[in-house]
Amino acid sequence: MKAVLINGSPRKKNWNTVTLLEKAADGLKECGFETEIINLYDQLFHGCISCFLCKRKKFIDKHICQYKDNLTPILEKSMEANVIVVGSPVYLGEPTGETRCYLERLQFPVTSYMVDENGNKVSILTEPKPTAMIYTMNCPVDYMDQIGYPILLGNSANAFEALFGYSEILYACDTYQFRDYSQYEASMFDPVHKVEMKEKQFPIDCQKAFELGKRLGKVALDLKNK
Ligand SMILES: Cc1cc2nc3c(=O)[nH]c(=O)nc-3n(C[C@H](O)[C@H](O)[C@H](O)COP(=O)(O)O)c2cc1C
Repeated sequence: MKAVLINGSPRKKNWNTVTLLEKAADGLKECGFETEIINLYDQLFHGCISCFLCKRKKFIDKHICQYKDNLTPILEKSMEANVIVVGSPVYLGEPTGETRCYLERLQFPVTSYMVDENGNKVSILTEPKPTAMIYTMNCPVDYMDQIGYPILLGNSANAFEALFGYSEILYACDTYQFRDYSQYEASMFDPVHKVEMKEKQFPIDCQKAFELGKRLGKVALDLKNK
């Protein structure tokens, strides 16, 4: 059983998003999964170019974006995996640009435009695949509702749920952004509070990511043994 974990942060080592993905991978490994963390920012690629090849009758069963570029092998690995976990920092209230491009090209080919004779939507994917979104952000947890993040950020997980049959979402708030806050014009952040969050809250978020990985692994194993 395989799991791919997609890092949508440009920061590839030791920072918030990739660390949580590593913890989720550890949880999946405990369930016997082979895991791979893929850094989106290692590749140059486009979002959906609206070619609609994926909606052509001859490609509809392929379940994969037919536009070929550096993202193609990553999309192939994602669709072959038993579990997909996508991690992204929040940039301007949304997933990062690269994460968004990946999600467009992963999710649109399995978004159905088909209805049956009764007008009911016909799903493209018939087998569920456990998925999750992990978001990291500066925003403090008690400010999230006020700026609408659960709705804005929940969209990608809702799409995963609707298309792949199972999805979870994990938010890690108030993350540590700079190595040395004293070097930056950023007086809205209290460095003492940020250190406290890094030392107390982030380990809790890491544990949540580990448990998330274990849960997804268990769901995937249960589906396989059904
Ligand atoms: C370009 C940019 C835009 C950002 N916009 C937001 C934002 O809208 N809301 C927020 O809470 N944090 C925002 N942040 C902070 C990051 O989401 C946060 O530091 C995140 O944990 C970084 O993840 P990383 O350490 O994995 O790179 C932004 C950071 C950058 C670089």
